[in-house]
Amino acid sequence: RIAYVNGRYVPHRTAKVHVEDRGFQFADGVYEVCEVFAGNIVDVTRHLDRLGRSLSELSIDWPVTRAALVAILREVVSRNRVVNGLVYMQVTRGVSKRDFGFPTPSVPSTLVVTSRSASRAAAEKITEEGVRVVTTPDIRWERVDIKSVALLPQVLAKQFARSNGAAEAWMFDKDGYVTEGASSNAWIVTEDGTLVTRPAERGILRGITRAAIMDYAAAHGIKVEERAFTVDEAKHAREAFITAATAIVTPVVQIDETVLGNGVPGSVASALRAHFHDDVE
Ligand code: PDD
Repeated sequence: RIAYVNGRYVPHRTAKVHVEDRGFQFADGVYEVCEVFAGNIVDVTRHLDRLGRSLSELSIDWPVTRAALVAILREVVSRNRVVNGLVYMQVTRGVSKRDFGFPTPSVPSTLVVTSRSASRAAAEKITEEGVRVVTTPDIRWERVDIKSVALLPQVLAKQFARSNGAAEAWMFDKDGYVTEGASSNAWIVTEDGTLVTRPAERGILRGITRAAIMDYAAAHGIKVEERAFTVDEAKHAREAFITAATAIVTPVVQIDETVLGNGVPGSVASALRAHFHDDVE
């Protein structure tokens, strides 16, 4: 396997950044994960738009031009012979003597890109069986709209899920409303087939897969309501699912101890999953 690190394509095994990289010391960096489907990087424009926004909110410079980054992503995907899988990119504020404030003068930002294939067997199992989620308080900071590599609350939430035999943790705010998954957006389906997901203005990352589902829904006459829902409402919903570049549409069949419907993936989530790649260019 090959990784890209600051201008070089290197063996993944020996790919390294400096011990004084600010990503390592302060989690002072941002990232994106894109799905690779049939050799294409899905929604790369939207992912790079969001990367640009994350960078600008933190005043980190683009490490290379946007066009160069697209070329690097494609090169890493192709050198790793990834047809279906993921490509990961991370940008940090760079390497500088440890000091909380930004380096002056500024230093070049660090860019790392990796790519790997996805397991077809795991995806098929999810299509057939769905997943369980568990709920846990959302203990993150207020700028979760920035896709930063400061992910400790999500690491703990995901581990809580794993140690309870679940695939994902749904985090909830102090009023009991679901914010999102540790690394995905959360959705429910009401009795009349309306998709419900929390507005992106507060408490969540504006997911690219979420946006793609909204476009799909609009084009196919499926109603979407952007509003917050509680854990309790979710447990009584007809269906639930999560979306992320790493999950596409993943049906949720159980929330904590509550089994949804008859415990198999719902028809709405299953159809969204089946058709997600219909329009991929
Ligand atoms: N995570 N919410 C959070 C907190 C996320 O970390 C992610 C994605 C999403 C979904 O966003 P998108 O549809 O753009 O992938 C929502 C990535 C996949 C990760 O951290 O691995």
